Amino acid sequence: MAAALPCAIVIFGASGDLAKLKLIPAVYELLREGLLPENFALIGYARTPMSDDAFRHICRDAIAKFSRTAKKHGVDDALLDRLTSRAFYHAGQYGNPEDFSRLRDRLNEIDHACGTSGNRLFYMSTPPEAFEPIIAGLGQSGLTTRHAEHPFQRLIIEKPFGVDLPTAEHLNAICNTHLGEEQVFRIDHYLGKETVQNLMVLRFANSIFEPLWNHRYIDHVQITVAETVNADDRAGYYDKSGALRDMVQNHIFQLMALVAMEPPALLDARSIRDEKTKVYKSIRPIRESQVDSFVVRGQYSAGEVGGKKTDGYLKAKGVPPDSRTETFAAMKLFIDNWRWSGTPFYIRTGKAMPAKMSQITVRFNAPPLTLFQKQCESPVYPNDLIIKVAPEEGISWHINGKVPGGSMNIRAVALDFLYNNTFKKEAPEAYERLIYDAIVGDQSLFIRGDEVEAAWAVIDPIERGWQRSTSRPPEPYAPGTWGPRRAMDLIELDGRRWAQNNDEPQPIIACAV
Ligand code: BG6
Repeated sequence: MAAALPCAIVIFGASGDLAKLKLIPAVYELLREGLLPENFALIGYARTPMSDDAFRHICRDAIAKFSRTAKKHGVDDALLDRLTSRAFYHAGQYGNPEDFSRLRDRLNEIDHACGTSGNRLFYMSTPPEAFEPIIAGLGQSGLTTRHAEHPFQRLIIEKPFGVDLPTAEHLNAICNTHLGEEQVFRIDHYLGKETVQNLMVLRFANSIFEPLWNHRYIDHVQITVAETVNADDRAGYYDKSGALRDMVQNHIFQLMALVAMEPPALLDARSIRDEKTKVYKSIRPIRESQVDSFVVRGQYSAGEVGGKKTDGYLKAKGVPPDSRTETFAAMKLFIDNWRWSGTPFYIRTGKAMPAKMSQITVRFNAPPLTLFQKQCESPVYPNDLIIKVAPEEGISWHINGKVPGGSMNIRAVALDFLYNNTFKKEAPEAYERLIYDAIVGDQSLFIRGDEVEAAWAVIDPIERGWQRSTSRPPEPYAPGTWGPRRAMDLIELDGRRWAQNNDEPQPIIACAV
């Protein structure tokens, strides 16, 4: 692994949920794994006045409650003491230049106390309205200026990176004013998940897949990212976003790009991101007038999922009673290039679904021989390659196998690779991997400026189509179901089906041989 240089990690929005649930625990795990530099410091920056000690208390609490190893084996007190002895807090407004000058002076002091050598990793985990003033504040106080004697000043930006193409372009322009592209790390935590990274290994480190990985052998690809949680607790944010912006433009598009991209020339950030960007540019645009034919939106109504009741999205706090924000989206896309010509990509995501399930299903064509088809009571199952992202991480091949016995009975069977079973080692959390990569300066798992713009260019016409008065409003769906009926029609009218729960045994097919 690349050696991490001394550095100060500054978290903007340090009193927020993401910092407590993910970022501070990730820093602890990196320290535990020996992946943090010897000389590090953790600085919390937020508007609420607080002492260093109070912030240290927040760190202790967050680590004890949310760090993946502490939850199982308890906290390592010596490590926790080491971490908190290097944790500091700086109260400041996001738009006040003086607060940034004070931050610069404080960081210089911390350099002396903790040996952090002037290297800084800034993490923006604030509401998006604060991104622009923070970048400007950092730039104007000289905190993003590249110095010959200091190896790095880097910035991680949380999502959402804009709400459409013009706002993303604007944010990119702000970044470019104060930083070079090599200093900007636009995060998508899906890229930090093990299985997602394994997609590239699966495709490019094995010779059996690549010859088949195209429209000649693949009937279609499905991507489902379903969540059981509803949006009731964060409806204020969610109502301005909706499933398309919250999940599709970023997480699902990243999964799709990794499935669809051409082999990169090298395994470096530039080559990988070039190929992903080409995928977005090859997506056949869905014109505003076509939106209802290719995209379905839904909104959950009153009901219950997994024991959690909801009065329905429209009753959630902060949601206007006539909100048209979608809590579910499904769509059919085509990637118009030589590899994928004519192969549909069906994607869907939603809140209040029956299961937490993120998976990619690559469905291969049916066998061309009608041998079995003729003599069996129903067609044999198509071969599926299932890439499981959550809740389990792994890969599963579904093939047809003979049921033991005198008759020729066929059943779909799974050849499974599950991370936990094979490696007996828990995969790190996405944020651990991504923070480490940013410290060592590897941008491969971060999104480039032109890439994020290319993804918004696909989304914008859909949003505009939905705003037309003639577009269908979101269709209600009962919590605990797989979305509105029209989401089924989207795929079933093409003679295909959503891969529902692949772990349920499929019925046996009897063949008269
Ligand atoms: C976030 C979205 O980016 O991803 C949330 O804003 C969503 O709405 C979350 O719940 C899902 O992440 P994961 O890792 O739990 O699948």
